[in-house]
Amino acid sequence: MYRHSLHQQIRNILADGDSAESRQPDASFVTRLTANATALDALFQELYGNHPQRDQFFSEMVRTLIRTHVSRPVSMLERDDRKLDAGHWFLSNQITGMSLYVDRFCNDLNGMPDRLTYLRELGVNLLHLMPLFESPEGESDGGYAVSDFRRVDPKFGTIEDLRSLQELMQSQGMYLMLDIVFNHTSHHHEWARRAKAGDPEYQDFFYMFPDRTLPDRYDAAMPEIFPESAPGNFTWVEECGKWVMTVFHRYQWDLNYRNPRVFIEMLDTVLFHANLGIDILRIDAPAFIWKEPGTTCQNLPGAHTLLRLLRQCVATSAPGMALLGEAIVAPADIMRYFGTGIYTARECDIAYNATHMALQWDALATGDTRIMLSAQPQLQQKPFGTTWINYVRCHDDIGLGYTDEMIREAGFDPYAHRRFIKDHYSGVHPGSEARGALFSVNPKTQDARISGSLASLCGLESAIAADDRAAVDTALDRILMMQAHSIFLGGIPMLFYGDEIASLNDYAYQQDPAKHYDNRWMHRPRIDWKALAERLRPGTPMQRVFTGLQRLIKLRREHELTGDYGNISWMHPHNIHVAGYVRSLDARRLYCVFNFGKEPAWLTWYAFKQHGILPDTLTDLWSGTEIRVGPDHEHFILPAYGFALLINRD
Ligand code: GLC
Repeated sequence: MYRHSLHQQIRNILADGDSAESRQPDASFVTRLTANATALDALFQELYGNHPQRDQFFSEMVRTLIRTHVSRPVSMLERDDRKLDAGHWFLSNQITGMSLYVDRFCNDLNGMPDRLTYLRELGVNLLHLMPLFESPEGESDGGYAVSDFRRVDPKFGTIEDLRSLQELMQSQGMYLMLDIVFNHTSHHHEWARRAKAGDPEYQDFFYMFPDRTLPDRYDAAMPEIFPESAPGNFTWVEECGKWVMTVFHRYQWDLNYRNPRVFIEMLDTVLFHANLGIDILRIDAPAFIWKEPGTTCQNLPGAHTLLRLLRQCVATSAPGMALLGEAIVAPADIMRYFGTGIYTARECDIAYNATHMALQWDALATGDTRIMLSAQPQLQQKPFGTTWINYVRCHDDIGLGYTDEMIREAGFDPYAHRRFIKDHYSGVHPGSEARGALFSVNPKTQDARISGSLASLCGLESAIAADDRAAVDTALDRILMMQAHSIFLGGIPMLFYGDEIASLNDYAYQQDPAKHYDNRWMHRPRIDWKALAERLRPGTPMQRVFTGLQRLIKLRREHELTGDYGNISWMHPHNIHVAGYVRSLDARRLYCVFNFGKEPAWLTWYAFKQHGILPDTLTDLWSGTEIRVGPDHEHFILPAYGFALLINRD
C-alpha cells in the first residue's frame, strides 16, 4: 500500500544516506524496504504510537536497516539471493542439525574445524552453537546471561574465530544457527551497570521500580520459571535502591521493550549477528518479551507485534536469515508464533515442536500413544512456509507442556498422569528403568520438569549398571525409535550433541559451585574424543546408536517427501501402542509406524489401506526388506519399541 508521506520519508532517509558508507543500498534492498514500509510503519505504530519521539525513532530504525544492509558482506548478499530464489529453503529434507556447547564439545572455536568432519560423517550440516557471547562465569545460565552481545567470550575464542568458522562451514555447504538472548541481559551488561550507577536513561532499559507497588502487582499474576533456584520475578538492586524485573535468574535483567530505544539497540544487535553469516537466529525466550501488570507476562499480543516487527526488519536487511522462536508454550499458543491474519507465516519462520517432543516421552513412559494423537489436530495447523525444529532432547529440561484436556481426551486423570510421568523419568516409580531427575519443582503446585540425557532416560544407564544385556538392547531400541519418530516427522531434526553416542548422565555438575543448583547440567556432557573411537567398534552401544542415526539421517536426505511441505497426515488409531504418520509427495507414500509399547504390536493392513491404495509390496527403508502387503484382516507386526518406514516403489 502506497502512503505518500511514509514513502516520502523513506525516500528522504535513503537520499541522505551516510556518504561515509562504503556502498549504496542495492536495488533489491530498496525494493524490499519500499514494499515492507507499510508493515514496518504499522507495527512500529502499534508498539510506539504514543511515544513522544515516535517519528524520530522510526527514522532511526529505518537508518539501522540501511546501515546494516550496506555493511553486509557481499558473499552473504549472494547467499541471500540464492535462498530467496530457492524459496523457503529451511523446509528442505537436506538439513539436519545438532546443538552443542563449543567448550564441552571441543574446548573452543579453534577446535571446531577439525570436528566438522565428524559431524558430516554423521550427516549433520546445521550447527546450533550454544551461546558464545561474553557471559560472566558463575552467573551465566549456560551463556544465556550475556554481558556483551558483540564480544565472543574469551573462553571460546574471538569474533574472528567465529567468522572464520562460519566461512569454513559455508564453503562446506553447512548452515550456522546462533542465539540472540533477546529477553534479558546479564546484570554485568553495560546498560545494567549504568542503570545500577543511577543513570535514568539506562534504568529505563529495564523494568525498574522504586518500591514494591508495581512488582507486587506483576508478581500476583506471573508464574515462576525457576521456583527453586530463583523464586519471584524481581530482584532488589542495592547499588541504586530499586527493584528490577528478573523473570529467569536474579542475574538476568529483563529488557524493557516499551522503550523504543531498547528495540533499536537490540535490532542493531540482531543485524550485527545476521552479518556474521547466521542462517537461523534462535530468539531466546520470545514468549516473555512484552510485559503487562496483571497478566502472566507470557505470549502477550505485544510480544507478537515485536516479533513481527523484528521479522519485517530482518526480511528487509538480511533476508537469508530465518528466525526461530524458542517459545516453549502450550500447543494453542505456539501456532501464534508463526503469525496470524495478514502476518501468517510472517512472524517466526521456525519454532520448537516442544509439545510433540514431550508427547514422545509421554508415550514412551506409558506405551500408549493416545495423548500424542489427541494433540495432532492442533499441531497440524502450522501454516505452510513455516517449520518445526523436531527433537527428542535439547540442553533444557523436558516440560510436560501438553494440556490437561489432551490427557482427559485420552481417558486419564491429568494430575495422576503427570505424576506418573515424573515418577517414571526420575526413576522413582517401581520398576522404572529411566534415570533422570526432576527440575524446578514448584513446592506450591508440585509442577516439575525433567532432566536427564536421552540414553539415561531410555534406560541405558540402569541397564549398563545392572550389566543386563537384554536391557541394553531394549534401551538402544528405545533411543533409535525415539530419534526416528522425530527425524521423519517433517521439520528440521535437531540432535543434541552426545545423544549420537548414547551419552549417559554426567553428575560432575554437582561438585561445581556455578552449576550445582541446576540439574540440567547432567545432560550437557563433556565429549571425550578418545572414548569416541568406540563408535567404530561393532556392537558397542555407541556404535549402534551412531550408525543407526547416521542411517536415519541418510534415509531422510534421500527422500524428498520427508521435507516439510504440509505433507503429513496421521494414521487413524488402530492399536494404542502404535503412532503412525504418512508422508507423501505426488504418488509417493512413506508410512512411518512406531511401536511405543514394550510388547510386539500388530496392525492390520487395513490400517494402512485407509490412507490410500497400497501396492502388493512395500519396502521398509529401515530394515531394507520387501514386505508383502496382505489382505485387510492380516497383520503387519512391529517388535517392542520397533519402527518401520514403509515406502511404495513405482
Ligand atoms: C531459554 C534457554 C534456557 C535459559 C532461558 C533463559 O529457555 O533455552 O536454557 O535458561 O532461556 O535465558
